[in-house]
Amino acid sequence: MASELDQLLHSYTQQVDAQLELIIPQAAGPASKLYKAMRYSVFNGGKRVRPALCFAAADAIGASNSNTAKVAAAVEMIHAYSLIHDDLPAMDDDDLRRGVPTCHIKFDEATAILAGDGLQSLAFKQLTELADLPASINLKLIAILSDLAGCNGMVSGQAVDLASTGKQLSADELDYMHNHKTGALIEASVVMGALATHQATDTQIEALKQYARAIGLAFQIQDDILDVESSTEELGKSQGSDSANDKATYTSILGLEKARSEAERLHQNSVDALSIFSASADPLRALAKFIVHRSF
Ligand code: IPE
Ligand code: IPE
Ligand code: MG
Ligand code: MG
Ligand code: MG
Repeated sequence: MASELDQLLHSYTQQVDAQLELIIPQAAGPASKLYKAMRYSVFNGGKRVRPALCFAAADAIGASNSNTAKVAAAVEMIHAYSLIHDDLPAMDDDDLRRGVPTCHIKFDEATAILAGDGLQSLAFKQLTELADLPASINLKLIAILSDLAGCNGMVSGQAVDLASTGKQLSADELDYMHNHKTGALIEASVVMGALATHQATDTQIEALKQYARAIGLAFQIQDDILDVESSTEELGKSQGSDSANDKATYTSILGLEKARSEAERLHQNSVDALSIFSASADPLRALAKFIVHRSF
């Protein structure tokens, strides 16, 4: 029998999947290959951690609503696009994602590039469809996603990742790279989920930001650990891809033990940041634990 919390996390996934079904076009007509590739890359078994963080942040405020699923769908589409492009030959050159061929292997490179582009613009379209929010908050949500998915976040982090390949980085440079390429979208998920309720106080948003920054960095550290420790079968992506590509990672620079203790330290920081919240933040606490203890 699944715990109440497991059921809640499952219901977050169901809600965002239903919203993604609504916004991503069915594969038909002259551009059906593009739509097929977008749907292939979104509906193939992602863990939906970022959508869950949106819902959990809204529930911590006590107020998830119909906007939450839309914000969650927006961040998941950005995430799916980032993975399609991350796997391309010009980037990590990976053939396997979520246990199936990557988008450019299943389709072709040009289609994979366009599927990423399409998902990115659909994410912003989704943010124009929020209900009962003052325009100032709606614009803030669009600004946060533009920033944290783009040049002040994920895209910059990916650029540093590529530029750092084969180089020795300091711990600070490594933090910069991980905070941008992965932490930024996690921060966007949490903060946007909370803001879209239109009920969050500044103090709550600040606490949630601290939570997200800690767990966002821990997320990528655990991803680096799993690249070393897990198996291709369990990961659904090629184990050892980082070392094959001579990537600068937490494990290559600090070693497995330090990487593990850093993930634990950040986990603790993330939980500490939630101290102003009661049991309403239990889903966020459960997600933090999942993020650092997951095996895939
Ligand atoms: C993988 O993210 C890419 C990183 C940012 C480390 P996830 O582990 O959330 O991937 P899916 O969506 O569950 O496949
Ligand atoms: C990905 O980091 C970060 C993104 C912005 C997509 P990785 O390159 O380590 O992600 P995986 O291991 O391929 O999922
Ligand atoms: Mg990468
Ligand atoms: Mg990769
Ligand atoms: Mg990785």
